[in-house]
Amino acid sequence: MSATTLITHIGELVTNDPEALEERGDLLGLLHDAALVVEGSRVAWVGAAADAPAADEVVDAGGRAVLPGFVDSHSHLVFAGDRAGEFAARMAGQPYAAGGIRTTVAATRAATDEQLTSHVARLVQEMARQGTTTVEIKSGYGLTVRDEARSLAVARQFTEETTFLGAHVVPAEYADDPAGYVDLVTGPMLEAAAPYARWVDAFCEQGAFDVDQARAVLDAGAAAGLRGRLHASQLGPGPGVRLAAELGLAAVDHCTYLEDADVDALRESGTVATLLPGVEFSTRQPYPDARRLLDAGVVVALASDCNPGSSFTSSVPLCIALAVREMGMTPAEAVHAATYAGARALLRDDVGRLTVGARADLVLLDAPSHVHLAYRPGVPLVAGTWQGGRPLR
Ligand code: NIG
Ligand code: FE
Repeated sequence: MSATTLITHIGELVTNDPEALEERGDLLGLLHDAALVVEGSRVAWVGAAADAPAADEVVDAGGRAVLPGFVDSHSHLVFAGDRAGEFAARMAGQPYAAGGIRTTVAATRAATDEQLTSHVARLVQEMARQGTTTVEIKSGYGLTVRDEARSLAVARQFTEETTFLGAHVVPAEYADDPAGYVDLVTGPMLEAAAPYARWVDAFCEQGAFDVDQARAVLDAGAAAGLRGRLHASQLGPGPGVRLAAELGLAAVDHCTYLEDADVDALRESGTVATLLPGVEFSTRQPYPDARRLLDAGVVVALASDCNPGSSFTSSVPLCIALAVREMGMTPAEAVHAATYAGARALLRDDVGRLTVGARADLVLLDAPSHVHLAYRPGVPLVAGTWQGGRPLR
């Protein structure tokens, strides 16, 4: 038997227990004056502090709120260089365009494996300090067979949730032959990347890949054993969201410009709509309408999209605050979206909740309730992050 730790005097515990939602319409499965027992890497007991069993070790949460660790289901952490100049130009009136990705591609190709690895390590640590305990990491700034495979090998050192995004943008050397580039992505690049990837993704957008190209990439990925996710409707309406729904993908991400048919397709397929408000914040585009999706019965997740171009934030708490203030979500919906629904977007049921048997990934907030994540924007409220039953730092 592994050692047990009792975390007690939890002022508010967010369990995300689906039974609480079913039985009492309580989205977050909230418990007050609660306690939780960790055994090894898992949650072994959850309940009222007064009923808590004895344990080898006791941690006093001092009335703080405890939440499941954030599940950041969309990030692009493997890159070199930054694009602060492009951001400044944008804030002076330049529009955002998909082509900026090529600047990062040049810097990434020139970086060593060691440089890429230490950069990802720093960002993953930055995320953990802000409460993220599960992160999905995409390739997509290599765009050669070698650079995509090594990007994923780097990402794999930090997470199981790695995504092959060779179809991020057509690189400059294929500018005259986009079909040739899709052949490369679906052929030798996929073959080299697949051993390091769980997922395949494509950027289905004007200036990147059209719907037929995206379908070809997703189909080839599926044939190689990878599950699909998609970037769509970030810069304007398009057919990507309906493609994701038709293929029954786990998630389609951005969803900023949606038509009614997109919303209907998402509801019917159960594909998670992952909204990325760091992008709209950093590009001055209109925020996606989370309220419309939630009211239609679509599952909504929130993620950082941490990348050097459109959203260089690693902060899920910032995304929660923006979603509440700008996208019509309640604090409870936003927290649920950044935990439970993030896990669902990755087809995971062992994270994003604090119920018996789940991984003991949790966040202690220097606040009495989850509401403070939106009520106190910009304040570093994360007092501690536990991953697999152990405190980080
Ligand atoms: O998710 N949309 C495509 N890819 C990134 C942006 C990448 C970049 O600008 O470097 C995104 O927003
Ligand atoms: Fe992205």
